[in-house]
Amino acid sequence: MLTLTRPGIEEYAESKTQPTNALLTELHKATHEEMDYPQMLTGPIEGSFLRLMVQITGAKSILEIGMFTGYSALSMAEGLPADGTVTTLEINPKCIQFAKKYFDKSEHGKKITVKEGPALESLAALKGPFDLVFIDADKGNYKNYYEAVLPKLKSGGIILIDNVLWSGAVLDPKTEDDKAIDDLNKHVAKDDRVDKVLLTIRDGVYFIRKK
Ligand SMILES: C[S@@+](CC[C@H](N)C(=O)[O-])C[C@H]1O[C@@H](n2cnc3c(N)ncnc32)[C@H](O)[C@@H]1O
Repeated sequence: MLTLTRPGIEEYAESKTQPTNALLTELHKATHEEMDYPQMLTGPIEGSFLRLMVQITGAKSILEIGMFTGYSALSMAEGLPADGTVTTLEINPKCIQFAKKYFDKSEHGKKITVKEGPALESLAALKGPFDLVFIDADKGNYKNYYEAVLPKLKSGGIILIDNVLWSGAVLDPKTEDDKAIDDLNKHVAKDDRVDKVLLTIRDGVYFIRKK
């Protein structure tokens, strides 16, 4: 991933962010050692941001689309009260097997339910209502995910969408993924059903509130 800021800024920001716990650090390390495309993992800054968002909003029912090895799911679960839930959708069985090892080691793991399969199919079977949704799966479906979750989000609920700056490629979209993300951003920007701000955290996080 290209960096959008001066070299060293990400490390500086991480050093001024609440340190992650030992289990998340272990999960991060093992993902880099054992899995393909470890850069997909959100990491300490965004993980802390997600946990804080859960705490600030008082969310109790969370939906995640795109779990990978479970870093963001576990970060959000840590911010939930004991009766809160994270439902997370993931297509890759290897990722699920990996993540579950870490969920089992955490006191917060019991809050997490994993649904295996294509996220749009899993979503169709979920009723909601959700308080907070984190979208971080295949970019080509971003707009489909947004439209599918909005009716299942309570009024005042939050959608967070990751990678919406796509290393800056949204300024000059060339690939299908570049265009899909730019298309989603344009769609959200003119959507009167929601309030929104596009945050330049890491690779860009769209912060959206349903009216
Ligand atoms: C960017 S990673 C998610 C990173 C994760 N949120 C984290 O913080 O570590 C995207 C994930 O979406 C999954 N994915 C891709 N297409 C999918 C689909 N159609 N349905 C469900 N999951 C999908 C991939 O297997 C991958 O694990």
